[in-house]
Amino acid sequence: MSEENWTAASKTQRRRPLHEMFVMVPPRYDFLNRLLTWTLDERWRRLAARECLKQNPRRMLDLCCGTGDLALRAASLGSDGTEFTGLDFSEPMLEVARRKRNARRLDGKVDFIHGDAGELPFPDGYFDVVGISFAFRNITYKNPLRERYLSEMARVTAPGGRCVIVETSQPRSRLLRAMAHLYFRTVVPQAGRLLGSNRGAYRYLSESARRYYDAGEVAQMLREAGFRDVSYRHLFGGVAALHTGVRQT
Ligand SMILES: C[S@@+](CC[C@H](N)C(=O)[O-])C[C@H]1O[C@@H](n2cnc3c(N)ncnc32)[C@H](O)[C@@H]1O
Repeated sequence: MSEENWTAASKTQRRRPLHEMFVMVPPRYDFLNRLLTWTLDERWRRLAARECLKQNPRRMLDLCCGTGDLALRAASLGSDGTEFTGLDFSEPMLEVARRKRNARRLDGKVDFIHGDAGELPFPDGYFDVVGISFAFRNITYKNPLRERYLSEMARVTAPGGRCVIVETSQPRSRLLRAMAHLYFRTVVPQAGRLLGSNRGAYRYLSESARRYYDAGEVAQMLREAGFRDVSYRHLFGGVAALHTGVRQT
């Protein structure tokens, strides 16, 4: 790559951290998710989807939707009265999401749109619920645009509306934490190397999941972003956590 191109690419990276990485991930993304979590990721997304549907939202956003699993799960469980939108900045991820949506005949119910979490193309308070599955870490861990992402997420949530986040977390038990970290340090990058299409993405997952905040720290981040009644529940001893909060009026 010429220096000019490299400089242009690195500027884009700075503007949109992680973008290049997620454009390259898709081919075996869903398969590796299921494999690496022993399919627990599906169960955790289902819990998040049910949480999103409490209070019968009129509009739900699946922020950083990737291949669309949270929005699709919620749409299959939810009522016809709810509009579901998934947004992501990786077009290849969105292509997979649209294919899955069409195969499940949910095309009248779920829209997948291309966009950046730092500049959401929606008016203030547009969504009754904003759900994020396994992408909150991406937009908050060592991310220079973290404040902007959090403020956009809060801006598009209606006053009194909710955020629902399912994310990797830190087990309280020292033994379980050590085992989870060992798994993230050894198995995850190896599986990414052998089966994934982008080794960097699985190295990033390995590092960020081990160093990510615990559930209490994420709760504090949500409070600072403008959510109240913030609570969380550990999943699988704290390997993951389900967070909720209500947008301040
Ligand atoms: C680990 S994947 C999670 C995808 C999906 N939510 C799931 O449950 O599998 C993270 C996703 O966040 C997206 N993403 C990261 N930063 C983003 C941003 N600033 N704007 C939009 N999407 C972003 C990536 O493209 C990727 O699809």
